[in-house]
Amino acid sequence: MGNPEIQVFEASQALSEAAANRFAAMAKQAVERRGRFLVALSGGSTPLGLYRLLGESPYRAQIPWQQTHLFWGDERLVPPDDEESNYGQVARTLLGKIQLPSAQLHRVRDELSPEDAAQHYRRVLSEIAGPGRQWPRFDLVILGMGSDGHTASLFPGPISDEEAREAVIAVTADYDGRPANRITLTASVFNDARVLLFLATGENKAAALRAVLQGPYQPELWPAQRIRPVEGSICWLVDAAAAANLSEA
Ligand code: 6PG
Repeated sequence: MGNPEIQVFEASQALSEAAANRFAAMAKQAVERRGRFLVALSGGSTPLGLYRLLGESPYRAQIPWQQTHLFWGDERLVPPDDEESNYGQVARTLLGKIQLPSAQLHRVRDELSPEDAAQHYRRVLSEIAGPGRQWPRFDLVILGMGSDGHTASLFPGPISDEEAREAVIAVTADYDGRPANRITLTASVFNDARVLLFLATGENKAAALRAVLQGPYQPELWPAQRIRPVEGSICWLVDAAAAANLSEA
């Protein structure tokens, strides 16, 4: 994997527009080449501007929604109408504006127990991947990063055997005082993706961003460092505040 591309934006609107342009370009390319577009979405507040744009002109008409499959990189096991639901926030900002076949909307079954929800999502991934594969090669993965360097629901701490082995795991973590029961895709899945787009804004991400991008490789301390695509590429879209500690070198 080469060095990640880093783009710094003064305003979050410009960042969201750049992300929307990349999303549309990846969608068109995937459908032209493979007949479908597989994308995993992130939770958190940073991508909300992107999700809103995708359902509006000019992006909505540029994206082949009929051939698009939406997945979630992680999810909290709360009902969709809960403000903490990652599915719920995409439903509230995007889904009402687009025509996506319901069979292509791969929601995490939040009503299940954590382990059953993880098991179910493993099945979803393997079914879409086809014979002989546990998970598909995502065309695009949208990721955020917490101020502690977590991404999706991969949090600082020892990497368990289960995380190293499974495509989807159940996680209990209490970040930012938000609900604990979650499921998350693991680095094995993310690292098979073609393009990973990290979105990070705000001064509270500056320390983690420098550690992740320019510090020593300590993936247990800085989980975003676990994301090292085998053949794919990483692009960070960040604002000036989040990039404040990065050295020019
Ligand atoms: C989630 C995300 C999580 C998020 C970071 C950053 O489910 O919340 O998967 O990894 O991207 O916590 O969140 P903000 O974008 O709100 O800073």
